[in-house]
Amino acid sequence: MPVSLWIRNACSPDRRAGTAAYAKGNSGPTSAATQREGFPFPYPEDGLAPAISPRTIEFHHDKLHQAYVRNTNSLVEKTEFATVTLEEIIKKTAGNPERAGLCNHAAQVWNHTFYWKSMKPGSGGHPAGVLAKKLEDTFGGFDNFKKEFASGATNSQPPS
Ligand SMILES: [Fe+2]
Repeated sequence: MPVSLWIRNACSPDRRAGTAAYAKGNSGPTSAATQREGFPFPYPEDGLAPAISPRTIEFHHDKLHQAYVRNTNSLVEKTEFATVTLEEIIKKTAGNPERAGLCNHAAQVWNHTFYWKSMKPGSGGHPAGVLAKKLEDTFGGFDNFKKEFASGATNSQPPS
């Protein structure tokens, strides 16, 4: 079974809208909106090494993630989105080309927070339980899943 890693951009069919908003809002101020103030890193910066280096963590969390937070806060300032949750922003802006920039930045804050929470030091290895059974039924086992995932990640093309 091929693994498709391309996920349709729910915010806008035009990815450039988000890029333009990013360039425009990149130096914006940070608001006091509690849900979007950022995400304290949940483990030591070397906690994921050697898979993810402290340098990569620093760049990804301290620069990229924080930039999405800063841009989201800037884009919601003095709008009807200033006091709603991150999830509400994403739901209310998805598919609206005029709000694609906000949707993209808010979704990136959500994605990055989910990403950091999905990992922890000393974890990994072979899955067990329901996930192991699903991988066995679908891919013939964890090792085959890893091969197909790697192949999908390196060979897939975005949908046209
Ligand atoms: Fe990222």
